[in-house]
Amino acid sequence: MRENPTRERAAASTDNGGGGAVPTTSSTATLELLECAPRQRPLLDEVLDGLRGTQKSLPAKLHYDQRGSMLFEQICSLDEYYITRTELGIMQRTAASVAEALGDGCMLIEPGSGASLKTDLLLEAMATPAAYVPVDISRDFLLEAAAAIAARHEVEVLPVWADFTRRHPLPTPAASINSRAIYFPGSTVGNFSRPEAGRLLELFAELLRESQAEQAGGVPAGSVVVGFDCKKEIPRMEAAYNDAEGVTAEFNYNVLDRLSRELGADLDRDRFEFRADWDEEVGAIVSRLWAKESHAVDIAGSTVQFEAGEPIRMEESHKYTPAEFEQLAGAAGLGLEKFWSDDSRDFAVVQLRPLGC
Ligand SMILES: C[S@@+](CC[C@H](N)C(=O)[O-])C[C@H]1O[C@@H](n2cnc3c(N)ncnc32)[C@H](O)[C@@H]1O
Repeated sequence: MRENPTRERAAASTDNGGGGAVPTTSSTATLELLECAPRQRPLLDEVLDGLRGTQKSLPAKLHYDQRGSMLFEQICSLDEYYITRTELGIMQRTAASVAEALGDGCMLIEPGSGASLKTDLLLEAMATPAAYVPVDISRDFLLEAAAAIAARHEVEVLPVWADFTRRHPLPTPAASINSRAIYFPGSTVGNFSRPEAGRLLELFAELLRESQAEQAGGVPAGSVVVGFDCKKEIPRMEAAYNDAEGVTAEFNYNVLDRLSRELGADLDRDRFEFRADWDEEVGAIVSRLWAKESHAVDIAGSTVQFEAGEPIRMEESHKYTPAEFEQLAGAAGLGLEKFWSDDSRDFAVVQLRPLGC
């Protein structure tokens, strides 16, 4: 689906205003931002749908406004949050092998690029990347991170503001490309239920097959490199999301503040308590905000009733055994090509290729 994108010459430095005009002159590098209107459904509809269901929930992507993106970066350096440092450790040791597996002249697309930290290591190891395309829903944070990458690497950086769960146009780099690769680190895949993650991998496989078909001369299909968190002892997984400093709790309360601000809702964070628990049945840590007392909330003229002890499901963080992930990918038409991990097998990075290509 093509979504009426606009292309904007953007100075990748400021604008905390959430999508307004961006200055066109700045001392920082200027970048072309491809804007693909990530919010297809009005925010209000999405929120009311989620809060009127029998089990209240909010879409996990709502965590990522500018403040949410900054809080996520703080989470990444928490002691309890082993995920980022383990994946960074893997990339520090194996970036050269990952780069080699991607090949020369590769256009690197990163859905949910955030701060592009691991990409920094990967780009360092890639001899001749054709372009780097970070895609994120958090517009201003995306611009800042893209500018930082452009300043550090000699590669064309083409940021895209889009919802990566939907088809969106991709920019055309100046250099000719040999292949496209999708880099999906950060265990972002874990934030989708198993069926949703399967659909997302199918979307990636489709994109790679299409770009192979577009290229002449039997070029090999590109690949997907995904980082996922492995199943481990429950207390360690739970501690990662119930950190002592309460940063993850704040990351969740921030969604309530955001909705109050953007929708004129009177969601009061003090009336909720945060907790993340392992759910064996779904294979995920589930983050919830629990109503401390019975109360009604006004959201842009609609009333939502909360009972005491009733939860809002905020985010799922799915964990996989390597075999489970290989099965998920296989069902989405992607075969396992390479596997990298840390010594304790806490986290895994895999390269997948469309089957039959
Ligand atoms: C778990 S963070 C990972 C960030 C980074 N890739 C890393 O490895 O640290 C998820 C990122 O995906 C972005 N994101 C979440 N849902 C999205 C969506 N539906 N479309 C685009 N970006 C999304 C968030 O803004 C955030 O930057």
